[in-house]
Amino acid sequence: MNDLAGKHIVLGLSGGIACYKAAELCRALIKEGATVQVVMTEAAEQFITPVTMQALSNRPVYGSQWDAREPNNMPHINLSREADAILIAPCSADFMAKLLHGRADDLLSLMCLARPLTGGGSGNDKAVPLLIAPAMNREMWAHPATQRNMAQLTLDGTTILGVGTGDQACGETGDGRMLEPAELLQDIIAFFQPKVLAGQHVLVTAGPTYEAIDPVRGITNLSSGKMGFAIARAAHEAGASVTLVAGPVHLPTPRGVARINVKSAQNMLEAVVGCAQVANIFVATAAVADWRVANSSDHKIKKDGSGAVPALQFVENPDILASVAQSPRAQSGELFCVGFAAESQDLLANAQAKRLRKGVPLLVGNIGPDTFGQDNNALLLVDAQGTQDFPRASKLALSRKLIANIACRMRATGQFSS
Ligand code: CTP
Repeated sequence: MNDLAGKHIVLGLSGGIACYKAAELCRALIKEGATVQVVMTEAAEQFITPVTMQALSNRPVYGSQWDAREPNNMPHINLSREADAILIAPCSADFMAKLLHGRADDLLSLMCLARPLTGGGSGNDKAVPLLIAPAMNREMWAHPATQRNMAQLTLDGTTILGVGTGDQACGETGDGRMLEPAELLQDIIAFFQPKVLAGQHVLVTAGPTYEAIDPVRGITNLSSGKMGFAIARAAHEAGASVTLVAGPVHLPTPRGVARINVKSAQNMLEAVVGCAQVANIFVATAAVADWRVANSSDHKIKKDGSGAVPALQFVENPDILASVAQSPRAQSGELFCVGFAAESQDLLANAQAKRLRKGVPLLVGNIGPDTFGQDNNALLLVDAQGTQDFPRASKLALSRKLIANIACRMRATGQFSS
């Protein structure tokens, strides 16, 4: 993907052992299509050399406000005006305190202070957002001064990307590690996505369900969960709070998404019913098993040597989507329900019939065997008015289009909660 194509990011490094992660982050940003201008404080240069950052960013690194390479000798103005965002990673406790007080005694803090807060001023055509990835010892992180600074920086319009938890370079364990480069990359990409679902709560089901035959065997299907996970990520990127009810899959939870792991269709139904009380949008992508074993055994079924096979009986599982679509909140328009249909043939006819059977305003059809386990898909949107094709693309790209489409529908029908 090239999710940061056309974005110019000023990557600021302040002093901290996490500077070693900034090298990887720089590469990741560039791999995603961004151009990166590195600015380092003197303290950062104690941890990683400008040579490394120059080689990775393919641009000279700036460190001094007296840098004569700029014709007007104003690197703090020039560098900040061309940026789409300034990202300080790592941001030390000291640097946070500096930002808070508007101190400007080195190039990086000077540049942050000089960045345009609003667009349209003389010479500035856009605001330049500031994002920080704090990194420090757990005691420094927990200190009231740091927490106070963080709260005030948020009020001042800075986006704080949070910290990780775990072993720290100092040997202690706790909160305060800088987030991993891959996590920061996801956060930056999310930052630039349009916030079309700000304030909404999205509930997504994903993956297969697993219906036990006995404690060691069960029936499941080939759903990888990738489409549902991509939709959860896209909804979070769009500013929604997202709950993802996932069947047994080994996919990492998208950043910022609350995940509830379930096994069977019954488990999934219970989790969904609770969450559907507060959600505004329900997207059911899970490949829920149609039947479960009625006579499942509490103990492992053993061969008895006679060649006899166990006689399994089945009972139909509840239809999660159909029952949520019948709920008062869905019927009154407080909850917008979207179904998926995994078909193997006659996609249009099957999807249209399924939409009516499930009682949902929007059903998204796809050809199961062409998409299960893959990173690409092609979708057919079916509603009461007609159909719309989303041609083959990555599941994340399709998910972003689908989320934008759902937001449009809700806005058109006045279904957005305030
Ligand atoms: N679904 C559900 N609960 C079920 C079965 C399906 O919530 N017990 C949801 C799926 O998550 C999907 C939609 O219903 O959003 C359609 O699922 P699909 O398996 O394609 O349809 P089925 O109802 O199983 O119909 P059929 O077997 O005839 O294709």
